[in-house]
Amino acid sequence: MASKSITINYHEFHSAAELSADERELIGKALEATENSYAPYSHFHVGAAVRLSSGTIVNGSNQENSAFPSGLCAERVAAFYAHSRYPDDRITALAITAVQDGVQCDDPTYPCGACRQVLNDFEQQDGKIKVILAGTKKIQVFDSVECLMPFVFDNWDGIKK
Ligand code: THU
Repeated sequence: MASKSITINYHEFHSAAELSADERELIGKALEATENSYAPYSHFHVGAAVRLSSGTIVNGSNQENSAFPSGLCAERVAAFYAHSRYPDDRITALAITAVQDGVQCDDPTYPCGACRQVLNDFEQQDGKIKVILAGTKKIQVFDSVECLMPFVFDNWDGIKK
């Protein structure tokens, strides 16, 4: 038996001013997307924006449904729409933010496990995706989705690299 541990590396900022212009722009687009969130059940409005290698930015928001599992998180809305609209472009970065009671959350909003798994698939196919989790008081930046989900399901050989 061996007891092992892993380290998660990330960068933490306390002001958007410390970020690059590209990162701030992406967060701005994620925040814009929260305005189109459809969240009549949770009242938690999540926005996500992905930057593609061409420079194009695509954003999306959470879309809920009275048949609860039928809704979709903001991250998957943005990533799936980006890939369906621009299949030959690759996702290089993703920003996530959330608004509750009309105000942007102070703390980062972490992507759920299902979104991490989906994003990892894009990352395995196309290369690292920087993940920017933006609260007003704390912003965390992960260099890849893998940092957020180290033990991902990836041993099925359905993905042909
Ligand atoms: N949600 C997202 O859109 N992204 C996340 O990273 C976490 C949760 C949504 C799902 C649901 O519409 C609402 O937030 C509350 O869980």
